[in-house]
Amino acid sequence: MSDRKPIISGNWKMNLNHFEAIQTVQKLHYSLPKEVYDSVDVSVHPPFTDIRSVQTVIEADDLDILLGAQHCHWEETGAFTGEVSPAFLAKLDVQLVVCGHSERRDLFGETDEMVNQKVHAIFKHAMTPIMCCGESLDEREAGETEAKVLSQVAAGLDRLKADQVASMVIAYEPIWAIGTGKTATADDAQTVCNAIRNAVAAQFGADAAAAVRIQYGGSVKAGTTEELMAQPDVDGALVGGASLDPDEFARIVQFAIA
Ligand code: 13P
Repeated sequence: MSDRKPIISGNWKMNLNHFEAIQTVQKLHYSLPKEVYDSVDVSVHPPFTDIRSVQTVIEADDLDILLGAQHCHWEETGAFTGEVSPAFLAKLDVQLVVCGHSERRDLFGETDEMVNQKVHAIFKHAMTPIMCCGESLDEREAGETEAKVLSQVAAGLDRLKADQVASMVIAYEPIWAIGTGKTATADDAQTVCNAIRNAVAAQFGADAAAAVRIQYGGSVKAGTTEELMAQPDVDGALVGGASLDPDEFARIVQFAIA
């Protein structure tokens, strides 16, 4: 076991309206004993239209659940129709922002360079990036997993300071495992997460590599969490579908520290 605090994040994607979001976060809170948060960070990443409502519940009820977002632009203001400023997220007390998710890259054309700009913007507003990386099935079958993932990591972390990298989260999400019910084996997840940590060490030094938290994501369920979390370089999970069910998500959180 490392001394990195595990972090379990629920990426709700484009699911749950703001009423449903409030209920989900309240149920999650009731399903988790208060002491859990001493051992694991838990974040939820609702759609933008839910964030204000979820923030109000978290603050009014003094919940220990961390508020996250799924995406942001890198500019503070301007003519970017439909985009959301990192400054606006920070104003809503958002703490963690996912960036570079494969769905953003594949469906909305986000490049490594855009992801890097977002990472810098998220830090500028004193929030923590959860920067995603991961290979497609074709890339995996061609034996290109590490080359792909490490090139995304190097580009995404470009021009950061070592202490910033130390404080952030990297999520390894093999694209073929997202929403498919297929998970990487715990060994495969460990191999790639270890390669990411070694690349961070080479680029930013041993201290940053020892501190950066690396999540696995892709069809994580309660039943697969314990084995994944037993891997020395897997520090948490980025959970999609299973995070929409507060009971299942609470079980994942508890298995993460079992
Ligand atoms: P699933 O857990 O639904 O596979 O989604 C994973 C994911 O993309 C989280 O960001």
